[in-house]
Amino acid sequence: MASTSGYLLLSFVSCYFALLAAGQMTHPSEVTALQAIRRKLKDPLRNLRNWKKNDPCVSHWIGVNCDFYPSDGFLHVKELRLLNKNLSGILAPELGQLSHMEILDFMWNNISGSIPKEIGNITSLQLLLLSGNQISGPLPDELGFLPNLTKFQLDLNYISGPLPKSFANLPSVKHFHMNNNSISGQIPPELSALPLLIHFLLDNNNLSGYLPPELSKMPSLKILQLDNNNFGMSEIPASYGNMSKLLKLSLRNCNLQGTVPDLSGIPGLLYLDLSQNQLTGSIPPSKLSVSITTIDLSNNTINGSIPSSFSGLPRLQNLSLQNNLLSGFIPSTIWKNMTFSKDAKLKLDFQNNLLSDISGSLDPPSNVTILLQGNPVCARGNQLNISRFCGPGNEEEAPEIPSNSNNSCPPQACPVSNNFQYVPESCFCAAPLGVGLRLRSPSISDFVPYRGQFEVYITSNLHLELYQLSIDSFQWQKGPRLRMYLKIFPQYSNDSSTFNISEIQRITDIFAKFSIPSNDTFGPYDLLNFTLLGPYSNVFLPPLKTGLSKGAVAGIVLGSISCAITLILAITLVFWKKLSLPRYQPKVSKDQSISKIPVKMEGVKGFGFKELEMATSSFSIATQVGHGGYGNVYKGILTDGTVVAIKRAQQGSLQGAEFYTEIELLSRLHHRNLVSLVGYCNEEGEQMLVYEFMPNGSLHDHLSAKFRETLSFERRLNIALGAAKGILYLHTEADPPVIHRDIKANNILLDSKFTAKVSDFGISKLAPVTDTKGFETADMLTAVKGTPGYLDPEYLLTHRLTEKSDVYSIGIVFLELLTGMRPISHGRNIVHEVNAACQSGLMFSIIDRNMGPYPSECIKRFMALALKCSQDKTDARPTMLEVVRELENLVSELPESDTFQLELNASSSGISGSATSSVYVKKSPYVSTDFPGSDLVSGVIPTIRPR
Ligand SMILES: *[C@@H]1O[C@H](CO)[C@@H](O)[C@H](O)[C@H]1NC(C)=O
Ligand SMILES: *[C@@H]1O[C@H](CO)[C@@H](O)[C@H](O)[C@H]1NC(C)=O
Ligand SMILES: *[C@@H]1O[C@H](CO)[C@@H](O)[C@H](O)[C@H]1NC(C)=O
Ligand SMILES: *[C@@H]1O[C@H](CO)[C@@H](O)[C@H](O)[C@H]1NC(C)=O
Ligand SMILES: *[C@@H]1O[C@H](CO)[C@@H](O)[C@H](O)[C@H]1NC(C)=O
Repeated sequence: MASTSGYLLLSFVSCYFALLAAGQMTHPSEVTALQAIRRKLKDPLRNLRNWKKNDPCVSHWIGVNCDFYPSDGFLHVKELRLLNKNLSGILAPELGQLSHMEILDFMWNNISGSIPKEIGNITSLQLLLLSGNQISGPLPDELGFLPNLTKFQLDLNYISGPLPKSFANLPSVKHFHMNNNSISGQIPPELSALPLLIHFLLDNNNLSGYLPPELSKMPSLKILQLDNNNFGMSEIPASYGNMSKLLKLSLRNCNLQGTVPDLSGIPGLLYLDLSQNQLTGSIPPSKLSVSITTIDLSNNTINGSIPSSFSGLPRLQNLSLQNNLLSGFIPSTIWKNMTFSKDAKLKLDFQNNLLSDISGSLDPPSNVTILLQGNPVCARGNQLNISRFCGPGNEEEAPEIPSNSNNSCPPQACPVSNNFQYVPESCFCAAPLGVGLRLRSPSISDFVPYRGQFEVYITSNLHLELYQLSIDSFQWQKGPRLRMYLKIFPQYSNDSSTFNISEIQRITDIFAKFSIPSNDTFGPYDLLNFTLLGPYSNVFLPPLKTGLSKGAVAGIVLGSISCAITLILAITLVFWKKLSLPRYQPKVSKDQSISKIPVKMEGVKGFGFKELEMATSSFSIATQVGHGGYGNVYKGILTDGTVVAIKRAQQGSLQGAEFYTEIELLSRLHHRNLVSLVGYCNEEGEQMLVYEFMPNGSLHDHLSAKFRETLSFERRLNIALGAAKGILYLHTEADPPVIHRDIKANNILLDSKFTAKVSDFGISKLAPVTDTKGFETADMLTAVKGTPGYLDPEYLLTHRLTEKSDVYSIGIVFLELLTGMRPISHGRNIVHEVNAACQSGLMFSIIDRNMGPYPSECIKRFMALALKCSQDKTDARPTMLEVVRELENLVSELPESDTFQLELNASSSGISGSATSSVYVKKSPYVSTDFPGSDLVSGVIPTIRPR
């Protein structure tokens, strides 16, 4: 052993020198800084597990991109991009030591704590992106001295305190996104000195004071968005009417008084929202920009008449004047000069005013909606022939369904399980990249007419052909913001239907570095996620290669080859030593089993057949706890006392390669809410998988009539959340991502503390075998299956498998948790039954009577979530991330009542007596009678009666 470790040491030393010789080391202070940053972050999904390796830049730590700086001969961190990685914890002050960093992107995590002032030391910083976290505390003055900062995005956090005046010293900043925080105080007039600012978003904060007239001096400002603040009865400065570049002015619900300013001096204004203030007086008669799409002056106390200047605005989509004191005539010329492009609509909302007459006759084309309810003119409805406009406005329009259907393509399907899809209208199969975007401040109210324009805008900036982009879905959100999911397809070619890595890199870089210039109509965007599925699931995006000389590259290559060789030698030595330990006794001659196991499977143990035979009393019937298509499941006790569940394959049910693929996949999945693989055995013609043992059996056991103990609402909710987190990990964080395909109550197991763990990922179906090009071999395509009652209906129809199929299945499990019903019983489908009950107002009548007391508000929301997950249409279902967030909200809002506590204690003590003897899978009835524990479980008498 001593010689081995000596050799290991030697190999690391030679590795080190190889790299040093090539001049390719990360600056030591940055290595220390990154380790400190890592220590302060919590990484539940183990995204950063490769941050334990040697040199951050050389071994490509996840999220870290470096560059070589000849000035000091070191590699330096240039980008730290950890977008959407479920990180929590806090940001370390050591970030300030990454002195060459240009991009710092931690968007969409759960990071808390405050912003370290040391970030103000990174003078090279260009993008500071922390949106969508739980960061609190004030804005450090120090951030105001970053000469190259262009994007400053801290929106959707809990930042408080004032806006520092020092921010007026950011000469390069273009995007200032601080909306949705708790920033308070006066907007410093000094900020008007920012020469390049184009987007100033401070909506949804606690700002007060007055609106500084000086803001109109910002020469480049395009978007000024301050909604939902309280500028205690100050007025809108008249100077705002002179902002020559302004596209969007949004001052909704700001407690403003005074009159509507004359905005006719803004030549390109697209979007105006001054609603929910206390504006008085009449609307200025001068003409607004001809480009305007949206005018919202609703919920003020504006009087006078509707000016004729609202007529003949060719791009108008929405004119909202409701809830004011407008009187006089309704102009019938508003839509006269409009060029209704394909799909364009115009909505005129004049409800609840004092309008008393119409000019001419109201006879708009079908794509114009007029709402007049609550006006005196409606009293003469029949007489003027306008009754049809006087009904209640049906506010909730039908959800917009994406119009791109692939109906024109021939019916035979693309290869499903490798995520191949028809390129819309082009009818060839290719594997798309998924991109989640959110337009954070679009200047339109209706996307449909602009859809084509948006497609051209995106594809031209990505240098792609138009057919390569498909807008998979889009949805308006509060703000208004527009969230969308794009699919980007590779170019048509005869020999490849996938992107190569450099092309993926190019496209993701353009999005992630915000290289798409913001467009006047669509405004700035947020990048929400990239989905790399199917052939891309193994794609590892290499770091930037800029700035490296050819000599340096050769040095690295040579250095790392010699490094790799020494390491391989070292590992082989260790491994060989391990194999020669007598305990394992591999029968290499028989099937060379062990030697085929890849080296990287840390934490998974190879068991000898004898060892497992002993653990299960020679696989006696008494230790058998379950039976499936795969074979039998046994409960075993290892020599060290560990209790495990052992799946023993029936002879011939698995082929060697599949068995290894399976172990390889499972050994990479580590999450609190997934059952973990302890080891495997491949000896004497036997193939077995060894898992941690789940004393509380499956969720199905607990819901079925046989084991009728009370499962409290709180416990059910926590089981739902646990299972959802496990699936979220499979979808977004497992590497490569995994679609479970068989989520059901039987596959959600419960440990001694009732923590839910998802099991059976791919065991019964097996993960697809991939060849060297990443394509699945043909046989696996037929192996797709699931369980009736849990199967996504759209998947059944289209054979197109997505993560949303798991969302459907977990939705069914949620419905089971709520109602105690089976997915299909007596031929009736649970979704149908629950929907019917909810629609007839009988929701509470179907709640499982064995649940005990529950807060009805929570149950309503849980039910709504369950039904949303189990919608027929894939796009209507939420993502797993949204499911987890909603469940987390529900859990955090649970009232902490004594009854819950009492019940929890009662049931857990009732079960603990049987915990060790309860079983893992109780599928076959004869098995459960073999176990006294199961009787005990069912014998628990609920201490709290269902109401
Ligand atoms: C970094 O910031 C701290 C506090 O803001 C300051 O005292 C220190 O001098 C800065 N260091 C460098 C190298 O700029
Ligand atoms: C800022 O950007 C300019 C131009 O790209 C560059 O020359 C300069 O070195 C940068 N400043 C810092 C502090 O990195
Ligand atoms: C606008 O005013 C009406 C009636 O005054 C009120 O019902 C409605 O909620 C208000 N709208 C908003 C968004 O506050
Ligand atoms: C419509 O356009 C014509 C020609 O440009 C113009 O004369 C007329 O005033 C316009 N009508 C309205 C209502 O703006
Ligand atoms: C809108 O109206 C125009 C003119 O009446 C018509 O040509 C167009 O088809 C309509 N569009 C829709 C979506 O109804």
